[in-house]
Amino acid sequence: MKKGIFQDFDGYDQVVKDIESSRRWGAGYSADTHGADQYINQLHPARVRLRVSDVIEEPPTAKTFRMVSETGYLPPFQAGQYIALFFDFDGLRTSRPYSISSPPNQVGYYDITVRRVADGLVSNYLLDDVGPGHTFESSGPSGNFYYNPLFHGRTMVCIAGGSGITPFMSMVREITERGLDRTVVLFFGNKDLEDAICHDEITRLGQRFENIRYIPVIENPPPGYDGATGFITGALITETLGSISDKTFYLCGPQGMVDFCLPELENLGISRHKIRREVYGAPRDISTDPAWPEGIKTDEAVRVRVAGKTEFEARAGEPLLVALERSGVLVPSLCRSGECSMCRVKVTSGKVFQPAGTPVRKSDRQFGYVHSCVSYPLEDLELIV
Ligand SMILES: Cc1cc2nc3c(=O)[nH]c(=O)nc-3n(C[C@H](O)[C@H](O)[C@H](O)COP(=O)(O)OP(=O)(O)OC[C@H]3O[C@@H](n4cnc5c(N)ncnc54)[C@H](O)[C@@H]3O)c2cc1C
Ligand code: FES
Repeated sequence: MKKGIFQDFDGYDQVVKDIESSRRWGAGYSADTHGADQYINQLHPARVRLRVSDVIEEPPTAKTFRMVSETGYLPPFQAGQYIALFFDFDGLRTSRPYSISSPPNQVGYYDITVRRVADGLVSNYLLDDVGPGHTFESSGPSGNFYYNPLFHGRTMVCIAGGSGITPFMSMVREITERGLDRTVVLFFGNKDLEDAICHDEITRLGQRFENIRYIPVIENPPPGYDGATGFITGALITETLGSISDKTFYLCGPQGMVDFCLPELENLGISRHKIRREVYGAPRDISTDPAWPEGIKTDEAVRVRVAGKTEFEARAGEPLLVALERSGVLVPSLCRSGECSMCRVKVTSGKVFQPAGTPVRKSDRQFGYVHSCVSYPLEDLELIV
C-alpha cells in the first residue's frame, strides 16, 4: 500500500498487517490489486460487443434478434432488464434500450424483440437492414423492472401494451423453463389481435402451466373473437383477479398505455409501491401532458447553446437529448425514459419542461441538472454537457 496521508489514521498499521497477511495466503484483497473492480466490471460491464446469430420473424410487426457475445462472455441479467444498443448513422450517434425477451437461464444469448414504430429511426433500421452476422455495441443489462422475491409476493399481475410484452416474455419463459413457484396473470393489450407479439406462444404456455394465466385484450377484435375487448380497465382486472391483495402489479408499454392503466390501478386502491412500471420512451406528444404550459406550441423554435461546444436550434416538443444528438453532441444515455439519470445535463440559463415524477435527485434539481431524454426546451437555453 502506498504511504501518504493514510498512515496518520488510527488503525493504519493494523490494516497494513492484515493486507500483508492476506497476501501471504493468496487472498490479496487490497484496493490496488483492482480485484474487486475487475469482478464488478465482469458482472456489470459498461459495454458488450454483440453479434446477431439469428433473426426470428414475429409477423407482422416485429422480429426477434438473437445476439451472442463476440468475446464469448455475456453478463448475467434479471428477467425484465434491458440492454441499450448504440448506433452511429453517418455521424448521428444515438442509442435505444430494448428489454431482453429471452429468459436469464439461457446463458448463451440475449434475445431482443423489436416492433416497428411508424417513422422510427432505429426500429425500421433493425427490422429492414439487420441480419445474422451484424455486430453491435451494447450496454450491459440495466434497469430495475424485475421481480424481487423479498418484497413482491408470489403473484405477479403483469400488464403489457404492444412491444411492452418483451420483459414479461423473459419472466414467463424463466418461470416455466425453471419450474419456479410463482404465479403470473398477464394482461396483454393490442389494437389488433394479429399485432400481439408472441400471442401463440403465451397462449400455449397458459394452457400448459397452471401458474400462467393469459388475458389478451383487443381493441378491434376480429369477427368471432370471444376474448376481452377494449382497454385494460380496473373493472377487467378485478373481474379477473377477484382479490387484489398480496399481489404486485407490473406495467410496461408506451406512455399512453401506462397513463391510462396507472389511474385504473390506483382507483382500485392499489398503492403506488405495489405498482412497478417501465415506460417505453418519451411521450409521442408532450403537449398532452396536463402540466404542459399553456400557449407553448411543440414546433416552437428555441436556441440551445452548449458551453464550449456548439449552438443549434431545437423544438419545444422534442426531447433535448434527441436535439443534442442531432447536433453532434454526444450525451451518454441508457433508458431514454427519465429513469437512469445517465443523460443528465446542467441548465445554466433558460427553462425546460420535465414531466411530473421524473426521478431527478434533490441535489440535481438544486444545481440545475435535468434528465435530457425527458426534458423539453421552453425557451432559449444554455447548457453544460
Ligand atoms: C426500457 C425500455 C425498453 C424497451 N424495450 C423495447 C422492446 O423490447 N421492444 C421494442 O420494440 N421497443 C422497446 N423499447 C422502445 C425502443 O427503445 C424505441 O423507443 C423504439 O424502438 C422506437 O425507436 P425508433 O428509433 O424506431 O423511433 P424514434 O425515431 O425514436 O421515434 C419516432 C416516433 O415514435 C414515437 N415512439 C417511440 N417509441 C415508441 C413506442 N415504443 N411506441 C409508440 N411510439 C413510439 C416517438 O415518440 C416518435 O414520435 C423500449 C424502451 C425502453 C425505454
Ligand atoms: S437516458 Fe436514462 S434518464 Fe435519460
